[in-house]
Formats: sequence, structure tokens, C-alpha cells
Amino acid sequence: MNAAPASASSDDPQIAGSITRETPADAAAVDALVIAAFGPGRFAKTAERLRERAPLAAGFCLHEDGRLIGSVRLWSILTGEARSVFLGPIAVDKASRSTGLGGELVRACIEEGKTLGLDGILLVGDPPYFSRFGFQPAPEAVLPGPVDQRRVMWLPFTAAAPVGAVRPDV
Ligand SMILES: CC(C)(COP(=O)(O)OP(=O)(O)OC[C@H]1O[C@@H](n2cnc3c(N)ncnc32)[C@H](O)[C@@H]1OP(=O)(O)O)[C@@H](O)C(=O)NCCC(=O)NCCS
Repeated sequence: MNAAPASASSDDPQIAGSITRETPADAAAVDALVIAAFGPGRFAKTAERLRERAPLAAGFCLHEDGRLIGSVRLWSILTGEARSVFLGPIAVDKASRSTGLGGELVRACIEEGKTLGLDGILLVGDPPYFSRFGFQPAPEAVLPGPVDQRRVMWLPFTAAAPVGAVRPDV
């Protein structure tokens, strides 16, 4: 599926292809999809500590026949002076993987970050997957707990990889 250019207008629920902005009505299905993808162990992760305290900046969903098959969320954070978002969790239903949907969700996040005028996007994830979108290692970003620093990645828009504490932009 080819993504059309993403629109970040919050008045426009249709983002790209079949991507829509997450609404409160999606929340339960998003939670179920993420638990199916990561298991309950995700709540122990440092990334979750950050998400608990950071405001939700945006969420994107993919539906097929009225069923949620993909989702991603963005959380407002600051790293030094850099304004950015923390991407995750991202999940695609097992039966729908490897057809480009994950890539569409990541690209919607990138368009959103650019439209919001952010300095970059941070995440904790698998470098072999996220490097294809331009994410680079951010070994000196300090998250609020233990994390495998090799998995901390930054997509720069205006600022180089962050150094120092990552905190919620409240
Ligand atoms: C990661 C995820 C969202 C990708 O969704 P998707 O719709 O399959 O993504 P795409 O179709 O854009 O890309 C698929 C490709 O990425 C590869 N890929 C998927 N996850 C990967 C990972 N963690 N590391 C490296 N490569 C990965 C697949 O092997 C596939 O490769 P291929 O095109 O050569 O077959 C999905 O696999 C998922 O929900 N995984 C479980 C949750 C998860 O681990 N999320 C965070 C990842 S750090």
C-alpha cells in the first residue's frame, strides 16, 4: 500500500492511505493490539515510564474491515532544548505484517513531527528496522531508567542526536 503525503491537520481524520488519527474510541483496541504484540512485560520497560508522564502528542491507526490492525503513538518530550516526540509503541497485527503497514505508520509519524516543527523523533527500538527510515543511534540520550543504549535512536530534523536527560514536555 502506498502512503499518500500525510496531513497533520487534527481536523482531518484521514491521514494517508487507510491511516487515521487515533480517537478516544480507538483506545481499547490499541491497548489490546499492543498487549498482543509485546505482552504484559512491556509495562516494566523504561520507555513506559516516560510514556506514563509525557503528554500524548498524536496517535495513528490502521483499520481493515472495521478492525484495528496497526497503531503507533507519539509522546511529547524534551531532550536538552530539543522539542521532540517519543515514538511507540508501534504494532501491526501478526496476520498483516510485512506488507508495508509498519512503514506507513512510521512515515505518518515523521510527517507529523515535521509539520509540528519538532527537532527530531526519539525511540527505543530495533536498529535494523528503524534505520531504514533514517533513525540513527542516540547513545548519549538518558532515559528515566535502564535501557539498552544501542536501541535508543533519533531521527534528526534540525538537531543532532540528543545528549542528556529525556523528559516529558509537560
Ligand atoms: C515492527 C512491526 C510494527 C513492523 O510492522 P510491519 O507492518 O511488518 O512492517 P513493514 O511491513 O513496514 O516491514 C516489514 C519488514 O521489516 C522487518 N522487520 C520487522 N520487525 C523487525 C525488527 N524488529 N527488526 C528488524 N526487521 C524487522 C520484517 O522482517 C520485514 O522485512 P521484509 O520486508 O524483508 O520481509 C511489526 O513487526 C510488529 O508489530 N512487531 C511486534 C511489535 C514490535 O516489536 N514493535 C517494535 C519494533 S522495535
